[in-house]
Amino acid sequence: MKRSKRIETLDRRPVNLDGYINEWPEMGFAAMKSPYDPEPSIRIEDGKIVELDGRVREEFDFIDQFIADYAIRIDRAEKSMSVSSLDIARMIVDIHVSRKEILELVSGITPAKMTEVINHLNVVELMMGMQKMRARKTPGNQAHITNLKDDPVQIAADAAEGALRGFAEEETTMGVARYAPLSSMALLIGSQIGRPGVLTQCSAEEATELELGIRGLTTYAETLSVYGTEKVFIDGDDTPYSKAFLNSAYASRGLKVRFTSGSGSEVLMGSSEKKSMLYLECRCLYATKGAGSQGIQNGSVSCIGVPGAVPGGIREVIGENLVAALLGLECASSNDQSFSNSDMRRTARTMLQFLPGTDFIFSGYAAEPNYDNMFAGSNFDAEDFDDYNVLQRDMQVDGGLRPVTEEEVIRVRNKAGKAVQAVFRQLGLSPISDGQVEAVTYAHGSKDTLPRDVTADLMAAEDVLKRGITGVDVVKALAQAGYRDVAESVLNMLKQRVVGDYMQTSAILDKEFHVLSGVNTPNDYMGPGTGYRVDGERWEEIKRIPHIINPQDI
Ligand code: 5AD
Ligand code: CA
Repeated sequence: MKRSKRIETLDRRPVNLDGYINEWPEMGFAAMKSPYDPEPSIRIEDGKIVELDGRVREEFDFIDQFIADYAIRIDRAEKSMSVSSLDIARMIVDIHVSRKEILELVSGITPAKMTEVINHLNVVELMMGMQKMRARKTPGNQAHITNLKDDPVQIAADAAEGALRGFAEEETTMGVARYAPLSSMALLIGSQIGRPGVLTQCSAEEATELELGIRGLTTYAETLSVYGTEKVFIDGDDTPYSKAFLNSAYASRGLKVRFTSGSGSEVLMGSSEKKSMLYLECRCLYATKGAGSQGIQNGSVSCIGVPGAVPGGIREVIGENLVAALLGLECASSNDQSFSNSDMRRTARTMLQFLPGTDFIFSGYAAEPNYDNMFAGSNFDAEDFDDYNVLQRDMQVDGGLRPVTEEEVIRVRNKAGKAVQAVFRQLGLSPISDGQVEAVTYAHGSKDTLPRDVTADLMAAEDVLKRGITGVDVVKALAQAGYRDVAESVLNMLKQRVVGDYMQTSAILDKEFHVLSGVNTPNDYMGPGTGYRVDGERWEEIKRIPHIINPQDI
């Protein structure tokens, strides 16, 4: 066939490198609705749910049972289930119905009913819902801080810069798992230099992660994964009960915890039971709520290629984010793993959370170049900072970040490198040279830094665990080395563990260590003139992008 040059040109566009598949519900490729999804139903006998979404108690799998026993308000259920799904959907977008009323209403509906409600909303309505239902009044953002070399000096510098740029939470993970104690320590120190009060996390194997948390080297945990089918849960050696237990282990030591879930995981693990991604994700979110977690990281997260490939898949992603908010959970709304070769597509996907605002618009913005991202590539990277700042300015939307100056970036990166150098010296860990600090200060990524002595680092990491080094030792080392301000910030992060207020839904800390959460600063949006508005000092800050013509200077 003679080819059209027009079509040939289109065929070569990045968007056509992405993978697409039509609906195939038997294999779980159905975004929001599958012919095999159950009809909503509930039956209560003697104060116990004996039938849930078409299944009687004798047929329950452990997810059904967990949801029936812990995640639905039995006193509300019959009343809430008698309201039609369409009416509930309309109330969600009605500015005269408050967030509180909606929370109360949906606390009595089942996962299949929730799926039906979400199916009545188009993307703009889903965004309207999120604008009202997000727990915290102000939106926020979370960063990935990782590098190919697991270089703790770079982690500290990148964490400092990320915190300066506005991220309220920063998480790291490793190429070599045994680096975890050093990565956590560097992240903790660096974050406080960029902006006191930033929370930090180290995604590691569960026992290690819990230990680092208990020792005060991290301040929250996030990757407690839950799944929507029993088979996938069991494949991960888990049950909703074991996750609830782990949640309590963290919480008992005063650590903020959120779970992780998201559409596509059951499809990827080959056990979707022919159900839609949205229905399975509703089950995950109900299990999360039943386990007593304050929040969730969801929106497909690392499985975004799956919903990204099916019709309506990106609508489903904001849909599942909204379900989290409807259940009263903090929502860290993904925009995490990259899913598209197209800049238009990756940006458009992000607008669904960016425009209404979520508790954390990204639950993993790569604050490093793509090649340094050890979580696998992110939807947005360090190269996109200025684009993002301009988007905030164009639309007068608070995306949780701020423009910075080159001087500030260099200053905080250098201070973070030096502080980690001093702490490692005080604690007798692996040496950090002045040359390494200098290289990291001016680096874009690990291609610009000096090599580390990996053997010495790994011995030091093991030493941290063996000697029982804790957050208090880091505070002492910082103070002894003359970093009193940083020592006080790290100590303040440890004090939060005793106070416990930052375990409330959607809690973050400001630079004075005051908690901002869904409890003390709740979202009160009820239409124009209410809720969070970008104005005052924050608007001035968003406007101050680099490369700008200032009329006063002409
Ligand atoms: N479902 C459950 N857990 C997920 N994670 C990422 N995506 C999902 C998902 N869709 C968790 C996994 C992974 C970490 C980065 O986040 O635990 O290891
Ligand atoms: Ca994350």
